[in-house]
Amino acid sequence: MAYRDLRDFLAQLEQQGQLRRVSVPFNVERGRNELQALMRHLAQTDGPALVLDRLEGYNTPGVPLVFNPYGTRERTAMILGTRDPLEAKLRHVKVLQEPGSWIKPTLVDRARAPCKEVVIPRDQVSVDRHIPHVFFGREGSSYITGGVVVTKDPETGVRNVGAYRVTSFWNCEHPQGGSYSEEQMKKQLSIFAFWNPPMNHIGLHLARAQKLGRPLELAIACQVDPALHLACATGIPFGMDEYDYAGGLRGSPVELVKCESVDLEVPATAEYIIEGVFRPDVPTDIIGWHSNSVGYYDKHQIFPIFDITAITHRRDPLWYGTIEMMPPFDHNYMALLPVEGELLADLQRKLPEVKDVVVTPNMTYIVQLNVDGAAKPHPEFGKYVLHAAWGAAGRWPRTAKILVVVGPDVDPYDLEAVEWAIQTRVQPYSDIIINRSAQAMVLDPSAPKGPQGFPTTSEQMGIDATIKVPERFSEYAEVSQADPAQVRSVAAKLAGIL
Ligand SMILES: Cc1cc2nc3c(=O)[nH]c(=O)nc-3n(C[C@H](O)[C@H](O)[C@H](O)COP(=O)(O)O)c2cc1C
Repeated sequence: MAYRDLRDFLAQLEQQGQLRRVSVPFNVERGRNELQALMRHLAQTDGPALVLDRLEGYNTPGVPLVFNPYGTRERTAMILGTRDPLEAKLRHVKVLQEPGSWIKPTLVDRARAPCKEVVIPRDQVSVDRHIPHVFFGREGSSYITGGVVVTKDPETGVRNVGAYRVTSFWNCEHPQGGSYSEEQMKKQLSIFAFWNPPMNHIGLHLARAQKLGRPLELAIACQVDPALHLACATGIPFGMDEYDYAGGLRGSPVELVKCESVDLEVPATAEYIIEGVFRPDVPTDIIGWHSNSVGYYDKHQIFPIFDITAITHRRDPLWYGTIEMMPPFDHNYMALLPVEGELLADLQRKLPEVKDVVVTPNMTYIVQLNVDGAAKPHPEFGKYVLHAAWGAAGRWPRTAKILVVVGPDVDPYDLEAVEWAIQTRVQPYSDIIINRSAQAMVLDPSAPKGPQGFPTTSEQMGIDATIKVPERFSEYAEVSQADPAQVRSVAAKLAGIL
């Protein structure tokens, strides 16, 4: 299974009744847009993916907007060829655990690269005309949210491809009443490369380039095969290439083409490519308000600026837009599947009793075991799993503020079931571990801010919601619950009646 590009995935969604083409007008202007409300409505109703072709206040009316393609766990699982979230996660885990199964990309001629159909050199680039702009909520700037960003380590030459948001200054409101220069608005962009320092890899490349006093080239491939996007949202170890991992996930190599103005390679079937370079002194500027993934506005954020050196795109390109806001929102699930996969891969390597890891859109972590009660390997095993999860590799697990361990009879995707397990299997003083000196999720507004202006440390709570046999009891009450097969058969009897 491999999608050739985003279009191929959208065709699959449409075939499965999960995508609608909609000509209802929606406003996308700064200050007047309806896109945050549309995102909320779709999330509340488990709505489909949309392709919107009648946007108002839009600078590129001929470019349709893809909206909400990843708005459910099911659609996100479809990126990996299944509708089942656990099956998708296990595929992600298997490839992550076996770098031998990764497949190197191939290079194709530019004549075979749809992303080269239109080429705009630097002297002709004008961000207001050449990059679609959609605004969300009360955000001050428009973001490029469908991009994967390619850079090479200035010391080793090893490539990194990461999913990071890119910001435009065009028609951007300055959060402190200042202004942006004409050059900034028309020929420059900025990127969210300093987030949770120093753990995103483009941030490491940028720091190395700055230290060496060298420029850092970059290329942003917008709207690519979603399996590649998923690979680029996965925290594979620094120094390994996401294109190779994506090849493993797809089961076939990613086809690349050389850039026009920088020494980098980009996916040939992307919709848009933006090429650019960070100057050695890495100028920065502030943007804001910025709506963040924990559901609050940051009054401002500091982003490094780069110069655009070329833009290429398809003749009839598609755009994709998404916002971070109070969860859930579209790309929650696309960003969470890799986080779940990374933690599951790490835990299963040492603990075969771990069956699944679910991270909710609000980033509560739930680890499900395939054993409970007396079948656990040793007493207090749930607490051992809590520590193992906090100590797992990767960027995210150490920031798990609320972490719950449950047994196999508790559905980790169902928060009511998890709450039931907490109510009936947990004594707060004995079964909850409070860690007072953990790493913060830097966007958490409840964690105290450090001297850098953002939180670095946070408190955490780990809840062992397994059955306390043998720790406290020799046997436990039987669960009163209907047999799922019988529930299905009763539902079938009532089909068309109720
Ligand atoms: C749509 C989307 C937007 C994201 N935006 C950012 C971002 O702006 N900055 C960031 O550091 N991580 C962002 N992430 C998460 C990173 O992609 C993820 O942590 C990934 O592992 C980073 O790659 P790296 O480990 O090579 O740095 C985003 C993920 C998704 C799916």
